[in-house]
Amino acid sequence: MSGQTIGVIGAGLMGHGIAYLLAVAGHTVRVYDPSAEWRKTMPERLESARALLDGDPALLARISSHEQLAPAMQDVSFVFEAAPEKLPLKQQLFAELEGLTAPDTILASNSSAIPSTRIGEKLRHRGRVIGTHFWNPPHLVPLVEVTQNEFTSAEAVQKTMALLRDAGRKPVHVKKDIPGFVGNRLQHALKREAIALIAAGVCDADTIDEVVKSGFGARMAVLGPMEQTDLVGVDLTLDIQNTLMADLDRGTEPTRLIKDLVAQGKLGMRTGEGFRKWTPQSADAVRERLRRFLAEQAKARG
Ligand SMILES: NC(=O)c1ccc[n+]([C@@H]2O[C@H](COP(=O)([O-])OP(=O)(O)OC[C@H]3O[C@@H](n4cnc5c(N)ncnc54)[C@H](O)[C@@H]3O)[C@@H](O)[C@H]2O)c1
Repeated sequence: MSGQTIGVIGAGLMGHGIAYLLAVAGHTVRVYDPSAEWRKTMPERLESARALLDGDPALLARISSHEQLAPAMQDVSFVFEAAPEKLPLKQQLFAELEGLTAPDTILASNSSAIPSTRIGEKLRHRGRVIGTHFWNPPHLVPLVEVTQNEFTSAEAVQKTMALLRDAGRKPVHVKKDIPGFVGNRLQHALKREAIALIAAGVCDADTIDEVVKSGFGARMAVLGPMEQTDLVGVDLTLDIQNTLMADLDRGTEPTRLIKDLVAQGKLGMRTGEGFRKWTPQSADAVRERLRRFLAEQAKARG
């Protein structure tokens, strides 16, 4: 599947990483971004990704940036959209893309939460609209949730899964276009309980992080929750659930505690405090630790 010409919309955090991983897979990538500032900084961000992963310097020549949408999208086989998370903007882009690309060009959105059903609403031919939810940073985290909506063709799903698999990703097929897809629903089910525990005074935020990192999180990269259930026995899991389920948090809106933190301007690392306290140094240390860990894993996968 290599050697295709692929369009990427947005040269930001996600867009440049998606462009990088597609170029590694041998594709020519044209990145459209209306912002001169983001286009200007893209080469150094791409070079930083390449250096981290010891990539071939020649692969960066396969990525170009473009100020205009139409020339960038000429004759592309796929478009991966990573523009800001605003529905009208994404709808407008997809409507324009329909007129600029061939009828069989697959139009994929990296939206975190907006269903591709809504993004493709203004198109006449909706079979090629699909969700491809990459995880940040996309060139280091292998999962991509490939989400079909009720109009997406089986061919579009199959082609997208094949392209991503070929590019060294781990695509999974999500069969219903629901908010949060699979990964964010799981992540936020965990966060709902974690925040409720802190709010109830059971433990502090540091303890939550320690329990996850040194406990079940330590094995999660090699043992998924369903594998773990089968490992210990479905019957044991039923016994535990019989005791636990009635006691778990079942809030249907964000917990009061998280609303209060936001109202107080405690937004996390960028303001020096969120659930935990941060200095610029301690925040940088976490970022660097994560970057190195993900890069080592990516290199080990090859
Ligand atoms: N950041 C994450 O962790 C993450 C993870 C998964 C999915 N996403 C989703 O990916 C998308 C992009 O997020 P990001 O974090 O890369 O944002 P970002 O702000 O880093 O990048 C957005 C880019 O879009 C460009 N842009 C602005 N207006 C545009 C337009 N009209 N047409 C094309 N490009 C335009 C901006 O100049 C910028 O370069 C969003 O939908 C977001 O929800 C983000």
